[in-house]
Amino acid sequence: MHLLSYPRESVSLDGTWQAIPDQYEMYDGYFEDFVDDDDDDNPAGFSPKSIYELGASEQEGMPVDFNVHDGYSVDVPASWGEEITEFRHYEGWVWFAKTFDWDADTAGDSSHLKFGAVNYRAEVWLNGERLGEHEGGFTPFSFDVTDELVDGENLLIVKVDNKRYDDGIPNASTDWFNFGGINRSVEVVSVPETYVRNYKLETELSEDSVDLQLDAWVENAVDDTEVTASFPKLDVSIELTADDDGVFTGEATLSRDDVTLWSPSDPQLYTVRVAADDDTIEDEVGLREVDVVDGDLLLNGEEIWLRGIALHEESAGKGRALNLEDVEERFEWITELGCNYARLAHYPHTEAMARKADEEGLILWEEIPAYWHINFGDEEIQELYRQQLRELIQRDWNRASVALWSIANETDHKDDTRNEVLPEMADYVRELDDTRLVTAACFVDETDDGIVLKDPLQEHLDVVGINQYYGWYYGDADDMEQFQENPDGTPVLISETGGGAKWGHHGDEDERWTEEFQAAIYRGQTDAIDGNDQIAGMAPWILFDFRAPMRQNDHQRGYNRKGLVDQHGRKKQAFHVLRGFYQEKRS
Ligand code: GCU
Repeated sequence: MHLLSYPRESVSLDGTWQAIPDQYEMYDGYFEDFVDDDDDDNPAGFSPKSIYELGASEQEGMPVDFNVHDGYSVDVPASWGEEITEFRHYEGWVWFAKTFDWDADTAGDSSHLKFGAVNYRAEVWLNGERLGEHEGGFTPFSFDVTDELVDGENLLIVKVDNKRYDDGIPNASTDWFNFGGINRSVEVVSVPETYVRNYKLETELSEDSVDLQLDAWVENAVDDTEVTASFPKLDVSIELTADDDGVFTGEATLSRDDVTLWSPSDPQLYTVRVAADDDTIEDEVGLREVDVVDGDLLLNGEEIWLRGIALHEESAGKGRALNLEDVEERFEWITELGCNYARLAHYPHTEAMARKADEEGLILWEEIPAYWHINFGDEEIQELYRQQLRELIQRDWNRASVALWSIANETDHKDDTRNEVLPEMADYVRELDDTRLVTAACFVDETDDGIVLKDPLQEHLDVVGINQYYGWYYGDADDMEQFQENPDGTPVLISETGGGAKWGHHGDEDERWTEEFQAAIYRGQTDAIDGNDQIAGMAPWILFDFRAPMRQNDHQRGYNRKGLVDQHGRKKQAFHVLRGFYQEKRS
């Protein structure tokens, strides 16, 4: 279960770390290799400290060509290629070292080392003890370090491997840059013996009432542990009782008249407090319900059209290590466009995005990087799939802004194994959270009857995303008028559409790569989409130009140029075309 740390005080380990690239992957167990126990010169009992221990590098006789304390200084969180320019394109192992002081007197009964995200694989040691490893570049993980922490100076070693793997999620081929690093914050969270590890709030509406259910995962609860949840502003307090699985759960019913429901136009948040004995966490939550009824996408029972935009998570010069100013900046653009929705592609973005979206009233599509060529039949990959879905959902399942969980992007709808496994992943998402909508970004097919959806996955989805590039990769932008509404009426979101342009490159609108060409695509697409009742919204590809190694021509040079804004924040003509369309949609 995800350790919810946002509401808690913690000791931050962000700041200067040492980073040593290990391209030949030589330094695992390095010093141990230099001591041959049978060697006569080896003083009896001398066993060197491992490289993972304080003082290892100062030992007599040990080779000094690897010292965890004299690497490159990197300001964690960081994508290493953005801080160590020699390693801008490096993919491999990097050893990170951080010494820090710990005051055992101020700690709680147990302490947990938490990483916001490390791309792509991490292996972690604290004071020479191996804590474990994690795979997946975009989701949080933590270790109980109560027994490994020492009073005074501690040494934390993290081996990061950002090589791309064919048996990874994503696999080795993507259309984004593989920013390696400890890309999000690192902290030590101390908690009492009995503590609230996580909670989940569910809201269900009826004509006159708002029904709340709150589940809490309490570690080390005992028979007389009292668990409560309260909403001070709503004057609600709920006694939670343990179910057969040890999950504490409780309910409350409020009158609709007493609650301001969360929506893009009124993103009302309420404080919730969850307490277990001496431990209390506090969070800000919105109360709302998303649903699909008779083919319509509903928010709080009313049909909504999603005026969106897709975006990657990168910031020029920072890679994936966004700070709050970066989050603010993309929200400024999203707001200026007139969006009420965004697709956070193609992987879990920083938790700060969903929290900001709660405050700003932006509906979100979130996803794991199950992208293009996933080896669906491999059971280890299926377990990694579930792990990444679980880590994302348990992190953001209390965010009112999150309405859609997407389980895949442009995977092969003719692959029988994929068509067996993805419905299982959709079911798994619903096991974790059946209050949000399950979707995926799918391909469309052209037939004599026009553009249709032939993806068998569709029947397992609440909402179908379609990625189509009429006007850029094929056909004309207004071909989308040929999209045939499918009989079962599942709502469709345009999860990608658009075209490329180099900012400042101008010419006729039939000249590819000009801003005028891109703007013409947006005019054609928005006209076509606006006329189709089954399409419930769109998130054009993409808010800003982003680094993409496969994009190499003189207009791109390693960037995907489909952004409405370039990587320097300069808007293209298409930005204003989409903004104008959304202004009409709002009226
Ligand atoms: C695909 C893919 C995106 C990619 C885009 C493009 O739809 O999902 O990740 O960047 O096409 O071609 O630009």
